[in-house]
Amino acid sequence: MNEPALFEPRKVANDVTSINAWLPVPGFGVLPVNAFLLHAQQPVLVDTGMACLSNQFLEQLYAQLDPADIQWIWITHADFDHLGNLKDILNDAVNARIVTSFIGMAKMGLQGIPLDRMYLLNPGQHLDVGDRKLLAVTPPTFDAPETCGLFDTRHNTLFSADSFGALLQEPAESAQAVDADALREGCINWACLDAPWLHNTDPNKFSDVLAQIASLDAATILSSHLPPAQGLNDTLCSHVSAAIQAPPFVGPDQAALEQMMAA
Ligand SMILES: [Fe+2]
Ligand SMILES: [Fe+2]
Repeated sequence: MNEPALFEPRKVANDVTSINAWLPVPGFGVLPVNAFLLHAQQPVLVDTGMACLSNQFLEQLYAQLDPADIQWIWITHADFDHLGNLKDILNDAVNARIVTSFIGMAKMGLQGIPLDRMYLLNPGQHLDVGDRKLLAVTPPTFDAPETCGLFDTRHNTLFSADSFGALLQEPAESAQAVDADALREGCINWACLDAPWLHNTDPNKFSDVLAQIASLDAATILSSHLPPAQGLNDTLCSHVSAAIQAPPFVGPDQAALEQMMAA
């Protein structure tokens, strides 16, 4: 895979469709970049994909529902792989409000997103979407302070933002389908890359953080950067925990980049 690509949307959990892109990461394999549509009574779009796949992304999303029916756009955090199509979708989804935190509002405000379209929610608070409540949760790892995942209390689905992601050798349908060693290595690499502060973390305190997430007892974990994961809660927590002791991530330098480009 040499270029970012969108795969076909598919059901990945009860009431959830994934809009699923894959991004080549030279030297490391591929990274899934997932947005999700939660078919609640008040439909919720979780993140908005990457701008480099804009036309296809919007086509796939609007084939699922009329954009005017989207009530909520939950932005897990204001990174480019999560808000790539936000402005276009906001224009079309005239009834939607963005769910974010104070810092997320500030970051999006700086990009010209109107503040009156935003709805502020803090971790521990719930959003009522008609037929269920969504609990706002801080995932165990993150690369931006505004990061807020969500837990669908009706079907016990955890949307974990960047947390529990993995760099993989090839696209996969599910996390269970990935070779166990490759999953472990991919999770540790991603955690070191995305959350370099892990290396300065007290392992005991971090295990409390993981225990809190484990206590949700999620039936499915939907990470932005992992295929859907079922029955892997303990495994994924253990991989993220192992990243604390792993060597820090050091990216390619200019000489390595030039070599890759020549290849
Ligand atoms: Fe991120
Ligand atoms: Fe991300």
